Amino acid sequence: MTLDALFSPFSFKGLDLPNRIVMAPMTRSKSPGGVPTQAVADYYARRAAAQVGLIISEGTGVERAASLNDPDIPRFWGEAELAAWKTVIDSVHAAGGKMAPQLWHVGAVRTRHPTWTPPGGYDSPSGLSSPGHRFGEPMTDAEVADTIAAFGRAAGDARRLGFDAVELHGAHGYLIDQFFWDGTNERNDAFGGPSIGERARFAAEIIAEVRTAVGPDFPVIIRLSQWKQQDFAARLAPTPADMEAWLGPLVEAGADILHCSQRRFWESEFEGSDLNFAGWAKKLTGAPTITVGSVGLTGDFIAAYGGEGSKPASLDELERRLGRGDFDLVAVGRAVLQDPLWAVKVKEGRRDELMDFERSAMATLY
Ligand SMILES: Cc1cc2nc3c(=O)[nH]c(=O)nc-3n(C[C@H](O)[C@H](O)[C@H](O)COP(=O)(O)O)c2cc1C
Repeated sequence: MTLDALFSPFSFKGLDLPNRIVMAPMTRSKSPGGVPTQAVADYYARRAAAQVGLIISEGTGVERAASLNDPDIPRFWGEAELAAWKTVIDSVHAAGGKMAPQLWHVGAVRTRHPTWTPPGGYDSPSGLSSPGHRFGEPMTDAEVADTIAAFGRAAGDARRLGFDAVELHGAHGYLIDQFFWDGTNERNDAFGGPSIGERARFAAEIIAEVRTAVGPDFPVIIRLSQWKQQDFAARLAPTPADMEAWLGPLVEAGADILHCSQRRFWESEFEGSDLNFAGWAKKLTGAPTITVGSVGLTGDFIAAYGGEGSKPASLDELERRLGRGDFDLVAVGRAVLQDPLWAVKVKEGRRDELMDFERSAMATLY
């Protein structure tokens, strides 16, 4: 099977990509004190030079005291931090690539670090890290407003620094997703409610603020998932109607591209159709979508955290769905983390040079 769809160009609001391959956002915790190093810039530039169409950065924190759960995850605010991000984007552009930062607030999740805690209180809709687990206090109205403003400032800075797009991390059980999920959002104000449409309000206000900060012609991506790190079986939208109620307000608020996170891209979202999450999101909203999840590898990324390696896998099913128009872009995580040359090797048909994914790759920054 050829890979003509995967290697066809994509254009959207001035974002011109040579192919459909996106580097998935992957936390590396290699930015001591929150400031990306030259090694971080080189790591991204290496992939930009090797035909990754669009790079999405590791999650990077917005300006709230507890937006991150590890001191070595990069921040996206502060003079030294933004200067370092300028080096990153300039390096990526010099290598011929395009890049979006993934703006992140982890919400109520425990620190990943043995001896460090964030310098301020945890933010979350209802002081819950998962259903029934108290962790911090519910955000006040002022804290909600400050957080929305922080996302807007970071997005404006991304554009000012020269990034090509911006992604908001609304997935995997972190802050924005904690608002979406009824298991962690028990608010009875304007940011909560029994329906997913009501609980989408926080995200929609962030998107609107971001849109105001970046202007109408700058691509705004939001990453979403049904699953949570707290509960892999959780589903925000058990039916297509719920999915429409969830995604509609986000697109209306100004989200351009929906990045639909699955652990295995080939799994269908609703019974009676083989469309995956990105397929349904595109069908229901008309917005371009990104799929992700075990592209080019046999095992999924949660298993990788458990130490499991993965072998290279066929791209035929991906190409079939992309060629059919289910989604527009394809994010690749571990395969590109393991091997900066993955996209080039795939394009040139150098199948026997594709690498296994080994857990040890997560410890280095090559
Ligand atoms: C080391 C590592 C770090 C990750 N960090 C993030 C992150 O910061 N933000 C995010 O949205 N997803 C993150 N993810 C999830 C990936 O973006 C991607 O969705 C997942 O790895 C599935 O893609 P893959 O099967 O191609 O690896 C991470 C995954 C890995 C392996």
